[in-house]
Amino acid sequence: MIEVRNLWKIYRTYEKEEGLIGSLKALFKRKYRDVEALKGVSFTIEEGEFVGYIGPNGAGKTTTLKILSGILYPTKGEAKVLGFIPWERKAEFLKQISFVMGQKHQLWWDLPALESFLLNKEIYEIPSHLFYANLEELSSLLAVEDLLKVPVRNLSLGERMKMELIASLLHSPRVLFLDEPTIGLDVVAQKEIRDFLKRFNKEHKTTIMLTSHYVRDIEALCERVLVLHRGEIIFEGSIKELTRRYSDDKLLTITFEERVPDEIESYGRLLSRDEGKATLRVGRDKVADVARALLESYSVKDIVVEEIPIEDVIREIFLSLGREEDGEI
Ligand SMILES: Nc1ncnc2c1ncn2[C@@H]1O[C@H](COP(=O)(O)OP(=O)(O)OP(=O)(O)O)[C@@H](O)[C@H]1O
Ligand SMILES: [Mg+2]
Repeated sequence: MIEVRNLWKIYRTYEKEEGLIGSLKALFKRKYRDVEALKGVSFTIEEGEFVGYIGPNGAGKTTTLKILSGILYPTKGEAKVLGFIPWERKAEFLKQISFVMGQKHQLWWDLPALESFLLNKEIYEIPSHLFYANLEELSSLLAVEDLLKVPVRNLSLGERMKMELIASLLHSPRVLFLDEPTIGLDVVAQKEIRDFLKRFNKEHKTTIMLTSHYVRDIEALCERVLVLHRGEIIFEGSIKELTRRYSDDKLLTITFEERVPDEIESYGRLLSRDEGKATLRVGRDKVADVARALLESYSVKDIVVEEIPIEDVIREIFLSLGREEDGEI
């Protein structure tokens, strides 16, 4: 469904010195700086997959999605989406994909969302019966039926995002690119959008590629993640594998009958403690020994063993990669 081979994108930005002299100099000798946003990215996504595309700021996520949706040319490399080369922008291709950016909107600000939807109906040549059937399904799933005739500028951020999603799905695209669709939304709206996307992907088998800085989104929606770091894919697999591969530790939360003993720190890295409860970070292979030792030495009410939260795993991966490159390791 999506095939990417050795994709490169180098942005060339021109730098101009200040003032008139700078402009004159620039006439003869332009100074420029190349930014390697993608450095040989390759991956494949199958039909109906919901894939998370994650990485720190500036990793090249938006650049990739722009290339795959035909907005940008790559510098070199190949990509096929639905069998089309995206940047050729064939009408047949554009009718079957959609790109939603959380930070940009396509709806007309002063008009009700419905008016923008009707405009899309014309642009995408959506047959009436399909348009109205989709509109009914989408607006009821997102519970915004009563808001279709309200000017977009009067909607809340979450409601507006829901309308953006409807606008992007009315033409029944087979591939959907989502670039931070929940950015800035409150937790309730984030969850509503997540639930909607999950259900929509299941029912319609739409292939979805999602970027998000909210790990909850990725955890809830994506069976597979691609991790991008400075223009290169550094991991491909499930969230579980990511945790296993990159985190050698587990969390041990112990509830004591009485107060937490002072020697607790000798059993592992103490992350938190209050009256009777302490959380330790302990090597995966030492968990059993530590638990046994604690049970033997103290009166323990409860012990819970958990994986390190995925947010922390991801943050640590990026921190360690950053340090390696800066030569600090
Ligand atoms: N139009 C442009 N001209 C020059 N450089 C650009 C341009 N667009 C992006 N870049 C640079 O390319 C790199 C990748 O940017 P991109 O927007 O793809 O990252 P991202 O992973 O989407 O980051 P974020 O999480 O912040 O959205 C960054 O270093 C960015 O500054
Ligand atoms: Mg981005």
